[in-house]
Order: sequence, then C-alpha cells, then structure tokens
Amino acid sequence: MRTDIVHMGAHELTYEIRQIVDVAHKIKTISGKEIYWENIGDPIQKGEKIPLWMKEIIARAVHDDKNYGYCPTRGLNDTREYLAAQLNARGGVQIQADDILFFNGLGDAVSKVYGQLRREARVIGPSPAYPTHSSAEAAHAGSPPITYRLDPARGWMPDLDELRMKVKYNESIAGIMIINPDNPTGAVFPRSVITEMISIAREFGLFIVADEIYINMVYRGEPTPISSVIGDVPALSLKGISKEMPWPGSRCGWIEVYNQDRDPVFARYVKSLLDAKMLEVCSTTLPQAVIPEIFSHPEYRPWQMKRNQLFARRSQRLAEIFGAASGVHINPPSGAFYFSPVFAEPLQSRMRLGIKNDRVRDFIDSLISPTTPPDKKFVYHLLAQRNICVVPLSGFVCDLSGFRATTLEQDEERFEFIFSSIAAAIPEFLGSI
Ligand SMILES: Cc1ncc(COP(=O)(O)O)c(C=O)c1O
Repeated sequence: MRTDIVHMGAHELTYEIRQIVDVAHKIKTISGKEIYWENIGDPIQKGEKIPLWMKEIIARAVHDDKNYGYCPTRGLNDTREYLAAQLNARGGVQIQADDILFFNGLGDAVSKVYGQLRREARVIGPSPAYPTHSSAEAAHAGSPPITYRLDPARGWMPDLDELRMKVKYNESIAGIMIINPDNPTGAVFPRSVITEMISIAREFGLFIVADEIYINMVYRGEPTPISSVIGDVPALSLKGISKEMPWPGSRCGWIEVYNQDRDPVFARYVKSLLDAKMLEVCSTTLPQAVIPEIFSHPEYRPWQMKRNQLFARRSQRLAEIFGAASGVHINPPSGAFYFSPVFAEPLQSRMRLGIKNDRVRDFIDSLISPTTPPDKKFVYHLLAQRNICVVPLSGFVCDLSGFRATTLEQDEERFEFIFSSIAAAIPEFLGSI
C-alpha cells in the first residue's frame, strides 16, 4: 500500500469469545466429536425455546407490511413512547421518547458510543471487561483500555478507591462504564456501589455509560438500574432484547439518554450519536414493532421470573460443583448467565492435561507458545481433552487467570456432565507438574 491504511486502534480489536470458535471447529474436525459450547451467551444456541405467545405476536408483525419499511432514525415512535412511559412510571429520572435511540443490537450502539467520542476522551471500564466495550473504547483511543478492578475476593465488587484515584489523576477520563448485572462475572452491584460510582462521576464532571442489557435478569439481590439513582448526572443506559426475550438474532437494542439538558457538551455528543445513526438511515424495524406488545403481555413477567429461577438453580449447583473442586475460587452468579472461576494459585507453564488423540494434541500444542497466557493454555487443553469450549479470563482485559462459562445449558444432564468434567479437569491440570 502506498499509504498505511490500518487504523491506529486496529490491534485493540479482539474478541476471544468468538476467536476460540475456530480452534474448537478444528478440534471437532480432527476428533470427530461434538463440542460443548460454553463460550457464547446465546440462549437460543443453548436450546432455549421461545414461548408460543411471543412467537404469535412476532408472526402477526411479520404479516404486517408496514414492518418491512424503514422507521424513523431514532426508532419507532410508539415503541419509544412506550419505553419512556414505562421508565417514567418507576419514578426515577424522567425522559421523553426522543431520549431513546434504537440500534442494530447493543453491539452497534457500543461502537457508536465510543466511535463518536473525541479521541482524547477516555471511558474507564471494569476489569475483567466485556470485550465489545473494552475493544471499541481502546480502538477509538488507539491505546489499551483504562480499567478499574473487580475483585474476585469480594464477590467481584469494584475497587472504588482505585476508580476514584484513576479518575482523579487522569484528566482524559471523561466517563465511567458499568455493566450491571455484569458479564463475565455474573455479579450484581448493590445500590450503594452504583450510587458511589455516580457520585464519583458527579464530583469529577464525568458521564456514565451503563450497560443494563441484563437488568431484568437478577436472581440474588436487587437490581439497581441507574435511572433510579442517577440524579442529575449525564448518562447513557444501554438496553436490549437479545438476552431477556431472548432474541439475539433480532439485532435490536437501544440507548436511553438521561440528563441530556444538564450539559451542553454531553448534549452535542448525544446529537452526534443520532447523526451517526442517521447516516445508516435507521435500525431494523420489525423487532422494535413487537416490543410494547411483548413487554406488556400478561405472561411476560411470570415467564421471566420462571426463567430467572432456572438461572438461580444453576448458580447454586455451580457453587456446589466448584466449591468441592480444588484449585479455583468461584463467585456463583447473582444475575445474567455467566460465571468466571479464578485459579487460586499462579499457573505454571508446564501444566497440561493428558490428551490421548495424538493429532488433537499436536494441533493444540502447535497453537501454544511461551507467550500464550496460562489460562488460555488451560482452555485449549480443556477443548482438546474434553471438547468443552470456554473462554480464558485473559481475553477480558484481565490479569487474573481463570475462565468464563455460561449457565445457559437447558438440559440438566448435559449441564451436570459439562461442569463436573471441568471441575475434574482443574486438579488434573494443576497437579500435572
Ligand atoms: C454486556 C453486554 N452488552 C452487550 C451485548 C451485545 O448485545 P447485542 O446482542 O444487543 O448486540 C452483550 C452480548 O453478550 C453483553 O453481554
């Protein structure tokens, strides 16, 4: 190339959750055995069934020609009116329909949120971090992510002293990002923690980015949507239907903007999010069209509660399985459908699992070098020995060794098999030197 065409942030774009899939497919081909996918938070892939009443609402919308057209750039008016009224009825911050912007899934929203920020302005986020946020933020700045620690020894609660110090001494930090309930830890942050994070933002003149895609999936403790405690701080709350309906293939999510009128710079930035979306015309119409009818259906809340009870049972069972296993520390999830065991001791480069199939062993060994993070080696060996695909914690901007798995498996026996197998593989790996 006559000119370098690579963006300065290109090397920050990493997504281990899907990168591991190529390795798993290769192992499947070589071994001829099926893979147990525990890497991606897709409830449909894990066998979840959509209730018939929900499908009927969607089917009616499919038969309505108007849902085949473009919609307003912000999203369908009726749906935004409905969502704004629902939020306002809860009594926290008050918004108008025009404070809501629809996107093609939160993935799209996240890339606009960071892509439209001034290059020098940084958003500090959690570590471990969900890579869609951390990669997009780092790529926008062309530098590695700036993070505050979630502490596994304190139930994955954020280190608020570290957050305050980093904010205080790094003037480029313009925003604080929160994921609640959290991916990859399954932590649900109490009201006091969210309130403290918001007061740090207020004190230093920052805005909040809160990813609340799992806010209706809390089964231990109470959810604290930022709308209930935000006060006068400018903020974006990111919500969607991928996880809770669950309809990830709809590619439909939205941003609620709070306190736009409190700060002209924030208001100008929000306008740039709308302008960027305008260049794309609008987001997909049909999923937006069904939201009011589905969310207000008499079966929606009971169905969600039942669904959350399953995740609660899964969480409890994981505490039993991994509590009895030596070598890892786990915090059973309180919300969302992920959990992230952390190795209790540093991993050694000579640790390995016995892999009987020579071709599989040779293939996996060819992928491991002295610079491979040790938890990634564990994950590769787990794939090679037991055909179970999880994601190393080092793929989540994190210096802890561990791995993330989902709690989505619908089949009880399969769930038991997968997690008992992982629990058995851990001491074998740790004891192999
Ligand atoms: C915290 C979080 N935010 C956003 C997303 C992406 O959601 P969407 O399907 O709406 O793009 C995910 C997907 O796993 C997620 O875990």
